[in-house]
Amino acid sequence: MKTVYYETIDSTNEEAKRRFAAGEAEPLLIWANMQTAGKGRNGRSFYSPENTGLYFSVLYPCSSKQMLQDFIFVTTAAAVAVCKSLRKNTGADAGIKWINDVYVGGKKACGILAEATYRGDELGVIVGIGINLSTKDFPKEISDVASGIGDFTKEQLHEMREAILADVGDALCDYFKNPSDHSAIIASYREMSVVLGKEVSFVRQGENEIHGIAKDILDDGSLLVACEDGEHILNSGEIHLSFYR
Ligand code: BTN
Repeated sequence: MKTVYYETIDSTNEEAKRRFAAGEAEPLLIWANMQTAGKGRNGRSFYSPENTGLYFSVLYPCSSKQMLQDFIFVTTAAAVAVCKSLRKNTGADAGIKWINDVYVGGKKACGILAEATYRGDELGVIVGIGINLSTKDFPKEISDVASGIGDFTKEQLHEMREAILADVGDALCDYFKNPSDHSAIIASYREMSVVLGKEVSFVRQGENEIHGIAKDILDDGSLLVACEDGEHILNSGEIHLSFYR
């Protein structure tokens, strides 16, 4: 896949949007050493300091026959690919917290933000991935939940970044070529879940916090939670793990 690198950029997702708007027609991987305006989900920012993490976006310009709903498992595919690659290249015991955060040692080490972008009626899918490799000194608001993976030398970081970009880039290319073939992705996602069997709590609109045990991830990626009042199926949103580890 064509790859471009920036020492510093506002956001690799925003750069992917700009390049698509300017006519990019091939899959493209954009990565950076640092982001000045890294974006997270739900309007949050993503802490992206220099020399410690890996921040990248894969842009996939779709064919005219493809629609956004053809790619509903793109975030799942990315989470599985990152988790596998982190296990292989860093030795970390990485796992996936439903719905698409990668966790190491009970804290978030990677976040994924998938976005759609349009040029007229042509669709581009963007998958943005931020990994805290040796990142430390997180802002106070996230220091309880976010973590780096370890202390790595400059050389180790260099090798890890190259290897992770290649692994995840290849896995996403495979997914984009054949997005309907997702059963193996869901199976790996289940196997890598840090949530299954754990007590979780969640809030639904207008309800109090509900507690239960995460029982299964269904074939559509939803989470089945067994609660005192019966089973709940969660389709999106965030859950808070309790009694994790
Ligand atoms: C989240 O956890 O809320 C999602 C975080 C996604 C961060 C990545 S870093 C590379 C890409 N560029 C961005 O601005 N965001 C994504």
